[in-house]
Amino acid sequence: MSEHVESLRDRVAAAVSSAIGSAWPELTDADPVVRRSEHADFQSNGALALSRHVAARPAEFAAELAGHLGPGGGTETELLRDVQVSGPGFLNLSVTDHVLWEQVAARLAAPRLGVPRGEAGRRTVIDYSAPNIAKDLHVGHLRSTVIGDSLARVLAHLGADVIRQNHLGDWGTPFGMLIQYLDEHPDATWHRAELADGASAVSAPNQLYRDARAAFDADPEFADRSRTRVVALQSGDDATVAAWRDIVAESERGFGEIYARLGILLTPADSAGESFYNSRLDAVVRDLRDAGLAEDSDGAVVVFSASATGPDGRPIPLILRKRDGGYGYDTTDLATIRYRLEELRAGRILYVVDARQALHFRLVFETARRASWLADTVDVEHVAFGTVLDADGRPFRTRAGDTVGLTALLDAAVERARTVVGEKNPELDTAELDRIAETAGVGAVKYAELSTSRVKDYAFDVDRMVSFSGDTGVYLQYAHTRIRSILRGAGDDGVSVDAAAGMHPAERALAIALDGFGDALTEVAATLEPHRLCTYLYDTARAFTDFYEACPVLTAPPPAHGNRLALCRLTAATLQQGLGLLGIEAPERM
Ligand code: ARG
Repeated sequence: MSEHVESLRDRVAAAVSSAIGSAWPELTDADPVVRRSEHADFQSNGALALSRHVAARPAEFAAELAGHLGPGGGTETELLRDVQVSGPGFLNLSVTDHVLWEQVAARLAAPRLGVPRGEAGRRTVIDYSAPNIAKDLHVGHLRSTVIGDSLARVLAHLGADVIRQNHLGDWGTPFGMLIQYLDEHPDATWHRAELADGASAVSAPNQLYRDARAAFDADPEFADRSRTRVVALQSGDDATVAAWRDIVAESERGFGEIYARLGILLTPADSAGESFYNSRLDAVVRDLRDAGLAEDSDGAVVVFSASATGPDGRPIPLILRKRDGGYGYDTTDLATIRYRLEELRAGRILYVVDARQALHFRLVFETARRASWLADTVDVEHVAFGTVLDADGRPFRTRAGDTVGLTALLDAAVERARTVVGEKNPELDTAELDRIAETAGVGAVKYAELSTSRVKDYAFDVDRMVSFSGDTGVYLQYAHTRIRSILRGAGDDGVSVDAAAGMHPAERALAIALDGFGDALTEVAATLEPHRLCTYLYDTARAFTDFYEACPVLTAPPPAHGNRLALCRLTAATLQQGLGLLGIEAPERM
């Protein structure tokens, strides 16, 4: 079986390229800029820019180029059935039915559905999720988790050597408070095993955090004992370190439960939390001093930015060592980027973190560059995302002003999905309905996170996200199940493609949409915007709906029968793989 099928768009682009090259040798390597088109199957916009090089008017250049292509013209009569000059010098290009059917057959026979390995060999570190120990994941972490996981899947599918990194907040002053509190309250119940059934492992450590925090704020002497305890932790006191480990492990178990429910790839082996970098912090400060970048300021050690200034016009510092001698978030992230560059040997590093940390990452990247840890050949990006808002457009909080726990959010989405699916499908038994509701509800939340441009703030609206219509996860899952049911209806009917058959416009539109899968994924890899894959899948599902309305499948005579089954199969496979790359399940029925 052939692994890789070139996309039709690539073949059309190659044909235009070779026509340019044979007529104007000086333009041999020119990019013909071939894209999908509203007016024909594809369009080439290259003539507009290229005409300058041969001192021709764009429309004349395009007309001459058209003469070298397509029927009656060049050798590409099999590929192109029509070439038209349009507008100021675009070429509208239509491919033959024959070549489209062959493309459908070739993709169906290729397990990768024509997706290229454009990221092959690129070692890509993705920093995502990164919740804080003894605190609940909140909606911001949910965004990072869902977007980062989808990028990890897409890039790995395109051949990248992906290294997932969960930069857990597992170090710092709060741990002194937590450990001291546990010491003084040996009866505090915060392990999930000690809690009543139904209590979540995620919120148990968070309850400990709240209780300890309350004590810390109310009792200055407890606060002092907590600070002493931090010092014990930092200097490696056995009992203190053991208590710290216990808290981290219990919290990680809770995160693991959420990851499992969400279908997230992260495992404990991907965790390299802040504490992981402790042993590397001294060297960061020393080396930045030696490089002449670090300086003393007000008792602290800092690196002043060479480009970013604050409102007072003065350069903004990264704090390497605080006045009390402690290290913080800045130093840890410097050690982290250095580790990823020097030890993990990353060619690309992505930080999927809230947009509000943009300045922090800008300064970290700048310092790494000035220290010559980060070379120009390595692509380092803050993959920023906007704030999660409620349905009324306000930052997402409970009435009490707390951030909303993730489990509650997912439960709400699953509950709504259960109602919606149950109404549509009253004959489902309870167990199956439960299973489908979970898949649909979780999928709906993930799809909602992924389908908006990530830098925008986005409104979390459970009713909208579980709707069966519109650009939702449920719509796509449902579209997939409908095609599966058609295929079940066809039983063992052959899907063999007869490329000599003519094509209905709706078949043609669907076949061309299916051809764009590889391009859509390549675009996600370049822009780091999973919503482009969502849009692609949504458009493809709609092209399928149009096709199915216009073209009967099961009742069609041969050869339309086999050809249409082939389109059904390829659409189902594309939706399933595409949803899979978003981290969303595609059930057989719903
Ligand atoms: N734990 C941090 C937070 O909850 C996110 C860490 C992101 N990654 C990093 N390398 N700084 O905001």
